[in-house]
Amino acid sequence: MILRLLLATFVVCFGAVNSKKVEQVHLSLSGNPDEMVVTWLTQDPLPNVTPYVAFGLTKDDLRLTAKGVSTGWADQGKHGVMRYTHRATMQKLVPGQLYYYQVGSSAAMSDTFHFRQPDQSLPLRAAIFGDLSIYKGQQSIDQLIAAKKENQFDIIIHIGDLAYDLHDQNGSTGDDYMNAIEPFAAYVPYMVFAGNHEVDSNFNHIVNRFTMPKNGVYDNNLFWSFDYGFVHFVALNSEYYAEEMSKETQQQYKWLEQDLAQNTKKWTIVMFHRPWYCSSKKKKGCHDDQDILSRDGLKDVFPGLEELLNQHKVDLILYGHKHTYERMWPIYNQSPFKSADSGHIKNAPAPVYILTGGAGCHSHEDPSDHIIQDFSVKALGEYGYTFLTVYNSTHLSTDFVDTSDTTGKFLDPFVLEKN
Ligand SMILES: *[C@@H]1O[C@H](CO)[C@@H](O)[C@H](O)[C@H]1NC(C)=O
Ligand SMILES: *[C@@H]1O[C@H](CO)[C@@H](O)[C@H](O)[C@H]1NC(C)=O
Repeated sequence: MILRLLLATFVVCFGAVNSKKVEQVHLSLSGNPDEMVVTWLTQDPLPNVTPYVAFGLTKDDLRLTAKGVSTGWADQGKHGVMRYTHRATMQKLVPGQLYYYQVGSSAAMSDTFHFRQPDQSLPLRAAIFGDLSIYKGQQSIDQLIAAKKENQFDIIIHIGDLAYDLHDQNGSTGDDYMNAIEPFAAYVPYMVFAGNHEVDSNFNHIVNRFTMPKNGVYDNNLFWSFDYGFVHFVALNSEYYAEEMSKETQQQYKWLEQDLAQNTKKWTIVMFHRPWYCSSKKKKGCHDDQDILSRDGLKDVFPGLEELLNQHKVDLILYGHKHTYERMWPIYNQSPFKSADSGHIKNAPAPVYILTGGAGCHSHEDPSDHIIQDFSVKALGEYGYTFLTVYNSTHLSTDFVDTSDTTGKFLDPFVLEKN
């Protein structure tokens, strides 16, 4: 009896301590080159303690601290499971410097992780992909973890559709995914925005699990921009169109007009989830009304984006949604601009498009599922991600990294050059 009581006490105490455990640690950029944001989660609240990040130049000397802010939020499922997200920003960081850090509170601390504060005077290296879950995506996750160890990336960008879905199983699918990617996301800033799989309950999970740069319109992670070296990155929420949220669509468009008008960077890279151009045989998901609405628009109610992005001479547009890879020529108004060498385009007259939705999820598309269109350059069926390198003000390159085997073959080298 006593033993059982002791055991019960132990289980209760252990359970309580355990659920204050720090999980799902991940980094993101604030847009300020001397800052790094860290976000983590606990399953239980942390009353009477302050969450914080401790950081420093060596593992044993985390003498700097920054206080965090906690938000409790309910999953939209019928059980309304509560979770607690904690966010802290490390400031006054030195570009190029390696930092070690730990997050948590007096209740429990995380392991020690580390990151190199991006040095924006060096070439930028980014992994970009959409549509990744643990199911069928483990190979991509493993390669991203390995690439992180070899310091291959400065940022990782996920262009919608995470985990399939973050809110499934009371949100435990999201927890499992976030824990599975911690081995790269706690070391390299991981930038995200919504795909159609995140729309449920007003984008509840993507709003509450992440910390993206502020757009000054809504505090919701759904559209944002930041500068990095020679590049201005913009992420847009195509789901405002697909969900016919006209007010938010117009707000986003107004923000985008100002954002692009103020942009001073040599390169502009725009990302959103739903493709406008691809060679998919199926109408759904590429050239269906829901997808085309964001491209062409509908009067003033849903302002179309293609015209604006062309006016502002956007260089590269990346999207996902279709679970495959396809690189296209520069395109405007459905017409490609072809030149002598599809692997090296100079002074493109319109944005180059890359569909990169094949990181790995439940279903997959192969080129045999396509009717290759006139604007297409290369279609690949392998699982993988796009590797972007921005060298300087005149050259950037992209490649497709195959993650369907462990060696990570590069299958689509491409250079974009401008004067
Ligand atoms: C969801 O949460 C409820 C209440 O905690 C639990 O009874 C149920 O088993 C959970 N369902 C899943 C699929 O995890
Ligand atoms: C920019 O980078 C490319 C690719 O590495 C290189 O060929 C070119 O010479 C560089 N240009 C300048 C101005 O540094």
